[in-house]
Parts: sequence; structure tokens; C-alpha cells
Amino acid sequence: METITLTMPLDMHVHLRDGDMLNIVAPLTSYSFSGALVMPNLVPPVTTLEAVKAYRHRIKLAMESDDFEPYMTLFYQNYSREFLESVQDHITAIKIYPSGATTNSEGGVVSFDIEPMRATLEAMSELGICLCVHGETNGFVMDREAEFMSVYEKLAINFPKLKIVMEHITTRAAVEMLDRYDNLYATITVHHLMITLDDVAGGMLRPHLFCKPIAKRPEDRAALLKVALEAHPKVMFGSDSAPHPKSAKESCGCGAGVFTAPIALQLLCEIFEAHNKLDNLQAFISDNAQRIYGICAEYKEVVLAKHDFVVPEMYGEVVPMRAGETLRWSIERVD
Ligand code: DOR
Ligand code: ZN
Repeated sequence: METITLTMPLDMHVHLRDGDMLNIVAPLTSYSFSGALVMPNLVPPVTTLEAVKAYRHRIKLAMESDDFEPYMTLFYQNYSREFLESVQDHITAIKIYPSGATTNSEGGVVSFDIEPMRATLEAMSELGICLCVHGETNGFVMDREAEFMSVYEKLAINFPKLKIVMEHITTRAAVEMLDRYDNLYATITVHHLMITLDDVAGGMLRPHLFCKPIAKRPEDRAALLKVALEAHPKVMFGSDSAPHPKSAKESCGCGAGVFTAPIALQLLCEIFEAHNKLDNLQAFISDNAQRIYGICAEYKEVVLAKHDFVVPEMYGEVVPMRAGETLRWSIERVD
């Protein structure tokens, strides 16, 4: 039987939520990943040291394995250097959202003018705290990410020592930025490697594929696939797995988010195998992230086998991507 062993898989962008939802989704990520960068867009967002510590504690309680590290993040505000010094040992990155760009981002920034942010970003840069960015303007929905490239350029040039991660990139424009600035990196989701806007809205509307940034054009997906499959050294896997209850997705006013945590590794095997690039999956799923973030991940080996896996219809009240469908790879065991 064909198998592949992934060591220390990392998901460098995940939404674990809180309360009952946390208890459903945290074990699904901690089962097959060594660690994950946990997004701070709770209600209210994670903005204090106490909130970081308390949220980490709740995640630890919700996990079902000990060999998993939640890498914590703060929700960006203009923080003082003194505060950043006090919190730096407890966080891996700070996530900045444009206000209103996506789920629970109302407290995000209303402007990316550099001057008001300079002191915070300079302090982050000196303390080695990475900046993760939800890069979308408030323009026409298909153009929001491409329009944001000028902001990435401004940030990269003004803070050349700050590591900036372009989160969940969806366009060729973002891929092209990677080789232009030393301090720009990116995460890519599994769903953006698979779908385009056609899959979301080309036929009957498929709310479980609706997310922000919205899936784009075939040429954008091709550009993402190229850098993922070659495991471009500045690119990492970040699922952006974002659970919402079925009732909130299948409703008038569908929340943005695709839930992929329990099927991400299986789907990645399928994609990398289809392109004859399984040898590069280890770098995309772990090695690049460990190098970029300077992380030494918890040791874990995940063995996947070419065995059919029927995706459950629901995990708790959440519908996963590919619900009810058969995947070609399954997780055989985790050591
Ligand atoms: O689709 C998304 N869902 N994109 C985000 O940026 C946030 C996320 C969520 O929290 O649901
Ligand atoms: Zn996200």
C-alpha cells in the first residue's frame, strides 16, 4: 500500500474559536498537526496578555493530545513597546485585519497609513514579532487582494526587518510579490489550491465554499499551485480552517469560512500526488514554516495511506468541505 509520512505538520493559520466550538474543532487540529498559529478574532478579540494566556489555556484543555503547540497571536492594535516586551514570550505573531474585511474583524484598522502604526511596527520588528496580514482593501470583491499589494510594498519597504506574512493568498499578484521583497512571506490554504469562484457561485451557490478572500480565477489558482507544489521557501501551509455552525452558513447572510481542519492533510496528499510532487509536501507542510518562524515543532509523525476516506457530513454542528465525499488518502496513524 502506498503511504507517506509527514513529520511535524504545521497549520500556520487556523481559527479554533471558543466555547463549544473550540471543544469540537481543537481536537481535530491537534490530532494531525504538531502545532498551529491560532487566529485572535474572537469576540472580543485577543488584545491583552491575560487574554492570550487564558485562551491558550482553554485550547490546551480542549485538545485531546499533548503533542500539539498552539502558537498564539494578538489582534493588532497600536501597542506600546513596553506592552510588546511583556507579551513577546507568549505570542508568535500579531494579526492585522482591515476593519470589517471578514468575520469578527470590526475592531481592525481603518487605515494602513504608516505613521500612526510606525512605533508599534518598529518595536515588533526589533523584538522579532512577525506581522500576519489579512490583505484586502474595501474595493470590488474580486480585486481586493490585488489592490492591497501597494500596502504590502509600503510595509515591506518601511520595515525591512519585520517579517510580514501575506495570509491566505489567492492571486497571482500576491505570488509575484514573494520574490520582490525579502521580508514578505505567505500562507496558502488547501481550498484555494482547489477551487475558483466558479465552484462557489458558478452554479448553485455553495455556501460552505464561501470565504474571504473569495476564491479567484483559474490563472490565480495556477499561480498558487505552482509555488505550493514547488514548496517555494517563502510559502507555508495555513488552512484558514474557519468553522461556522451549519445554520450560519446555510442562511441569508452566510458567514465567510471554509472548514477543512480534519481533511487538509488528505487533500494536500491528493493534490501533490496528482502533480507528482509528493516529495515537496514535507517542506510546504512544516519545514518552511519552522524556518520562517524559527519554530522547533513538537515531534509527531503522521502516516497517510492511499485508502478511501469518506468525509463525515458534520463535525458537531459544522459542515466540512467535501462533506459526504470520498477522498483518496486517509490518515493511517499518528505516532
Ligand atoms: O473566510 C474567512 N473566515 N476568512 C477570514 O479571514 C476569517 C475567517 C473566519 O474567522 O471565519
Ligand atoms: Zn483566517
